[in-house]
Amino acid sequence: MQGVTNRGLREVFGSTVVPDALFTEFVRVRPGSPTPVTNADFVEATAEVPGIPLVVQVIGSADDGVVQATRDLVSRGVQHINVNMGCPWGRMTSILAGGGMFRAPETVEPMLRELREIVPGSLSVKTRSGIDDERQIFDVIPAFEAAGIDFLVVHTRTVQQKYTGAANHDLTREIVERSHVPVIANGDITTAVEAADVMEQTGAAGLMLGRGAIADPWLFNRIRGTAPDKPEGEERRRELARHLSLLLASYETLFHGDAQILAKLKSVVAMVPDPDQARWCKSIKKQKRVASVRILLRDSAA
Ligand SMILES: Cc1cc2nc3c(=O)[nH]c(=O)nc-3n(C[C@H](O)[C@H](O)[C@H](O)COP(=O)(O)O)c2cc1C
Repeated sequence: MQGVTNRGLREVFGSTVVPDALFTEFVRVRPGSPTPVTNADFVEATAEVPGIPLVVQVIGSADDGVVQATRDLVSRGVQHINVNMGCPWGRMTSILAGGGMFRAPETVEPMLRELREIVPGSLSVKTRSGIDDERQIFDVIPAFEAAGIDFLVVHTRTVQQKYTGAANHDLTREIVERSHVPVIANGDITTAVEAADVMEQTGAAGLMLGRGAIADPWLFNRIRGTAPDKPEGEERRRELARHLSLLLASYETLFHGDAQILAKLKSVVAMVPDPDQARWCKSIKKQKRVASVRILLRDSAA
């Protein structure tokens, strides 16, 4: 998740709730550049948590360097590549990248075939259901199959929907039924009950957790049945405070200056949806010094 799943956050998740796989923020390919991947992105793309596969997501169009970028990433040791076909923001939708790739479905298969030759580990795609019509996904599934991708992650909203409405997991089920590629369901999974429902409803091969896990890392364990579902009040706050303390410590090693460190932490706090934690979250967002946030979190975690 862009702006969120940096290596500091991945390290904390990897050492606490140990997801089965971790994904980078998207690596934006620099069109036409002899060095399509920035040094900063190389650092992110190669910062693995030992024992957990790191999937590096690339975003760009077939003719603006995705293949070269992938070659460069693989030459630095990257094993797993995911192509973003879902980003609904800005330029991505007006060029043939991210969600915009649906505008030129004929470019998808040749690009994936080239990547298939290059990528040593898994090659996957993460996609929305279409640009303005959720049936568009069915136009590109044959390309995914023909290119031999290993799995497909679907967030069943259209690009046009952005985050309005809800992910359509009836559609996820249809994609699972009509695709020979294993499908990972994504979208609006925030509790263990919802996770079980989506698995049952769709027959998906697995789940990808986004906002729900950022706001509640223990969601992984709640789904596994190793942590209770949805603790409330004081207990929830203590859990959050402990997690945010770890994140803060990690961000202090990664980012510079109180403003930058706290901006990163606050973007995570902003994703906590619990109404009964709203005042507490607000008190964190008001802070301007790392030291005062550290104290606030330490006191709340006790
Ligand atoms: C702040 C933010 C950044 C995101 N960045 C990415 C990204 O870099 N690549 C991607 O494939 N999806 C990205 N997404 C979409 C999520 O991966 C996910 O598909 C979407 O939020 C629905 O799943 P969720 O309800 O579990 O969050 C982002 C979402 C948010 C809210």
